[in-house]
Amino acid sequence: MPEPTELITGLIHHPYRPPDTWDAVPPGVFKASTVIFRDVAALRARSYTAKTGYTYGLRGTPTTYLLEERLAALEGGRYCVLSPSGLAAIMNVDLALLGAGDDVLVPSNVYGPSADLAANVLSRWDIAHRVYDPMDPADLAAKIGPRTKLVWLEAPGSVTMEFPDLPALVAAAKSRGVLTALDNTWGAGIAFRAFDLGVDIVMHALTKYPSGGADVLMGSVVTRDEALHLKILRLHGQLGLGVAANDAEFVLRGLPTLALRYRAHDAAARALATWLGTQPAITRVLHPALPGAPGHEHWAGLCGAAAGLFSVLFSPALSQADVDRFVDALRLFRIGYSWGGPVSLVVPYDLDAMRADREALPGHLVRFSIGLEAVADLQRDLAQALARIG
Ligand SMILES: Cc1ncc(COP(=O)(O)O)c(C=O)c1O
Repeated sequence: MPEPTELITGLIHHPYRPPDTWDAVPPGVFKASTVIFRDVAALRARSYTAKTGYTYGLRGTPTTYLLEERLAALEGGRYCVLSPSGLAAIMNVDLALLGAGDDVLVPSNVYGPSADLAANVLSRWDIAHRVYDPMDPADLAAKIGPRTKLVWLEAPGSVTMEFPDLPALVAAAKSRGVLTALDNTWGAGIAFRAFDLGVDIVMHALTKYPSGGADVLMGSVVTRDEALHLKILRLHGQLGLGVAANDAEFVLRGLPTLALRYRAHDAAARALATWLGTQPAITRVLHPALPGAPGHEHWAGLCGAAAGLFSVLFSPALSQADVDRFVDALRLFRIGYSWGGPVSLVVPYDLDAMRADREALPGHLVRFSIGLEAVADLQRDLAQALARIG
């Protein structure tokens, strides 16, 4: 029997086009590696940097453009570039703005892999990094040198939770004409208005609150200045840092409930952190919205909300094995990195390995990410685990 060529080709080049009147609450999900051009003139006319049309899946689809616009709006920015993880977004900023001979300043409590990238990867291209004390704007000012091109900011540090005086840090960098990039994963666009502070770049790990499902890895870089955006976008294109449509779909699905979820995480975390502060095994609660936490006054001066993340210090009188037993005894809290999802998480950190000024934080640090479970159940879980070491 001859091959039914019309049928085979027809299944690929089928003439039917569905009516274009479709509208629904969720946006459509467009997937492509190849983008089809109507004719050669269209192929030649399109520019992915100007977003006048589509050129190739890696450079953007209607789904990723839509997510970019919504994220730029969330932060009060104008431009957004998506990356396959928060860490990739950090790398995008670093590699776009730094070159041989430059240096970058990172806070001492910065997200660990960001410091690792600076110390062990950027250094190979003769880009130096220096570490500043985020709680001392004078230290930042003193460390800015003629070669400093970028200052990273993070508020609060996501393990030790110090909330810096962001306006003072931004002012120190601005007075020397140095660009600032804020890792705003904790603020998520809800806790405070980052661009109002004068920062140049706002980066997010969308992996956390914007996704909300603990099922997506993605990052974003939002800017207001076109030239700066284009630098970041070009490098993004050169490195091939595109995101998958299904992942963008998940984040688009998470955004409408972002503010509600953020406030629920916030209320639950404050309640549990306050209660933990009354427990004899715990000597200090590191939650920026609670009085006595490092930088609480800076949080109070800037923020209208806080994320569901905090740490506590267990008494130095306890052993690490006691603290590990507490963590292992938790049932609703699961042991795992990350935050912003529905399930409460817990991680014991080794401060000896993390901090040069270890003595400033005596005891054993345990970080909690509060999920969306009932607060009373979480408190019962903490109480039964504390009873094991009491
Ligand atoms: C503050 C902060 N920034 C960036 C990242 C990186 O995000 P991702 O895991 O998507 O690479 C994380 C992840 O834990 C984080 O906590």
